[in-house]
Amino acid sequence: MVDIKKLLKEEAKDVDSLLKELFKNEKIVPALQESMEYSLLSGGKRVRPILTILTARLLKGDKRAARLAGAALELIHTYSLIHDDLPAMDDDDLRRGKPTNHLVYGEGMAILAGDGLLTYAFKILAELNLDAVRRCRLVKLMADSAGPNGMVAGQALDLQAEDEAVDLNRLKKIHRAKTGALFKAAVLAGVYCSDYTDEELSALEIYAEQLGLTFQITDDILDVTGKTEILGKEVGKDLERGKSTYPGLIGLEESKKEAEKSVNKGLKSLEVFNDEADILRDLLKFILERQY
Ligand code: IPE
Ligand code: IPE
Ligand code: MG
Ligand code: MG
Ligand code: MG
Repeated sequence: MVDIKKLLKEEAKDVDSLLKELFKNEKIVPALQESMEYSLLSGGKRVRPILTILTARLLKGDKRAARLAGAALELIHTYSLIHDDLPAMDDDDLRRGKPTNHLVYGEGMAILAGDGLLTYAFKILAELNLDAVRRCRLVKLMADSAGPNGMVAGQALDLQAEDEAVDLNRLKKIHRAKTGALFKAAVLAGVYCSDYTDEELSALEIYAEQLGLTFQITDDILDVTGKTEILGKEVGKDLERGKSTYPGLIGLEESKKEAEKSVNKGLKSLEVFNDEADILRDLLKFILERQY
């Protein structure tokens, strides 16, 4: 079995170096660039781009395109975090172990840093060295996943559910959209940088959906049981903000069971692959056990 934590660290280093390269030759307004880079280069886990890379590796796809598509997705994810932390949303002070973007650069610049990252991501996708059909599919994938039918929809539902009694179905819907959509995009981006069969596509789709749900359930759990020093964000905030979460709705033990159920579904979907998919299997198990 591979040491998944070590592998994640190594792959994250590679993603980091690509992200550092991105704006080198751009002439961006310095204060805006600083604000964008402050959040982008502050050491996230890079799970989404790594998923894109690992999926393309499994399918023997175009590695360079997968690295760049994953980087584009990390820009979108980082934008979502900057906006998620704003006073008008979750009002958080700590992200990736540092003061949140708006505390350092002000709310206006934080909003613009998010806007800049989101838009720049689509430039990267448009410039990928792939045929035009594949490029368009990737652009549409990211727009669908990040936009008003994906992550942004989830964030809207999340806001609406504050201080409300939601049932498990509604909570699942929120989690699938606000977090699951970008994870699904991560895996599908790797697929679209490759040649694949229908069977492989549907297996990886189910895997990604289950991984995304597991990820947000464990995020909810860690807000209760995690350590701020390890997570790099303040714990206990969900309860304070009246957020609808798994532990809030069904308790910690049941939440863990729900996450395990998702992991098992995800692992089952990978049965169409041989041991070359073991890294994806280990990654899913890591998401269940993660402490950060
Ligand atoms: C945090 O995502 C936001 C959620 C969707 C739960 P990550 O836990 O991947 O955050 P970083 O990128 O490692 O900082
Ligand atoms: C965030 O969910 C999902 C996003 C789209 C950013 P959370 O609000 O739970 O994420 P954290 O806990 O602030 O990272
Ligand atoms: Mg939020
Ligand atoms: Mg938040
Ligand atoms: Mg959270």
